[in-house]
Amino acid sequence: MSNTIVVGAQWGDEGKGKIVDYLTEGTDVVVRAAGGNNAGHTVISGGNKYVLHLIPSGILWPDKLCVIGNGVVMDPLGLIEEINKLRGQGVKIEQANLLISETAHLVMPYHRALDVAREARRGDKKIGTTGRGIGPAYADKVERCGLRAILLTQPEVLESELRDRVAFHNETLAAAGVDLVDADTTVASILEAAKILAPHITNTTVALHEAMKAGKSLLFEGAQGTYLDIDHGTYPFVTSSNTTSGGACTGSGVPPRKIDRVVAVGKAYTTRVGSGPFVTENENIGDMLHNMGREFGATTGRARRCGWLDMVLVRYAVMVNGADELAITNLDGLDGLETIKICTAYKLRDKVIHYPPATCEDLAICEPIYEEHKGWVTDISGVTRYEDLPALAKAYLDRLAELAGARVSLLGVGPAREQTLVVG
Ligand code: IMP
Repeated sequence: MSNTIVVGAQWGDEGKGKIVDYLTEGTDVVVRAAGGNNAGHTVISGGNKYVLHLIPSGILWPDKLCVIGNGVVMDPLGLIEEINKLRGQGVKIEQANLLISETAHLVMPYHRALDVAREARRGDKKIGTTGRGIGPAYADKVERCGLRAILLTQPEVLESELRDRVAFHNETLAAAGVDLVDADTTVASILEAAKILAPHITNTTVALHEAMKAGKSLLFEGAQGTYLDIDHGTYPFVTSSNTTSGGACTGSGVPPRKIDRVVAVGKAYTTRVGSGPFVTENENIGDMLHNMGREFGATTGRARRCGWLDMVLVRYAVMVNGADELAITNLDGLDGLETIKICTAYKLRDKVIHYPPATCEDLAICEPIYEEHKGWVTDISGVTRYEDLPALAKAYLDRLAELAGARVSLLGVGPAREQTLVVG
């Protein structure tokens, strides 16, 4: 039995879905513990492309148990859409392989409306949210007026609580001058969703502890990345949950003492969606990757902002998450470059710093300090063993590990399951 947490070392979209999918083979239970359907994990398997938002990617394996933990905010309508789509692709989703925590909070249509209204009001200072209602749903949770998944098993209580919340949040929507949410339509759609989801809702903390007692292994599938963490990220341009490894414990009820391994996933370069400072952002890298058909968001389809690998961020992520292993994805994205830059430190005013500063205002004026590496200028997407990589690619990875203070254990050279190499 060994329990592993997979987290993102950057701003999300690091390719965690693929790494989780790879690690799932040796695990029994895959858990989502934070975030909601703002996440978008693309997994390519057997020539098919699957996009997962709320459901752990372990669902693509027929014999694995998948758990949506208490730390997740779950949009019942979004989840049903996702279930239907996956079932249409032949994926088995039953009561036995998908459990939802009864204390996970629900994302309701008014949360989505509030998310969009708040973003509009922020104007130039908008966060660039996914518009999925994530922030308002977590705000209700912390404000102690949220609705939890257990209510989906109690239709009468659900209806009265829901009518109360719709009325309450409509006051804010009215003040913002935007369309109100219709109570009857909302109640009807959520009650319908409740019938479908109720059989999956249970005490997942107990289920996870029972699985551990039975000697099963757990894999925690991180969503978003370290720099979107509400505490450790580039606040306020962050999401509303703890996306770092600690969030896996609070968001599932599995205590820190039960965790054996933390794998931080990072791209061989850096990307970001949404607003906020990005020290190594580089338009040429963005154009190159977009022309290769890469770096478009799985949830929103937005073109991601791109730049050189920022090891100031990865180093800090390794520290905050307690990662001793790095999984580096998308190494093949750098195949065409003669020269590759790595940011090793920032210059902030007249000081050289090795960790990100606390404020976005400071981060925005940080200048990257780069070192340059010779590119391998070879297509590595067909390489199946680490030993067969060009020496310059190995040198890039060695330097990256040295700067991060963690070893590179896994490597992605393309989107398919077979394009994940184990670094020996
Ligand atoms: P929210 O999570 O929708 O509130 O969005 C807050 C910030 O997190 C925005 O910058 C989003 O673009 C970003 N974000 C949320 N989920 C993801 C993700 O899965 N990948 C990358 N960025 C994300």
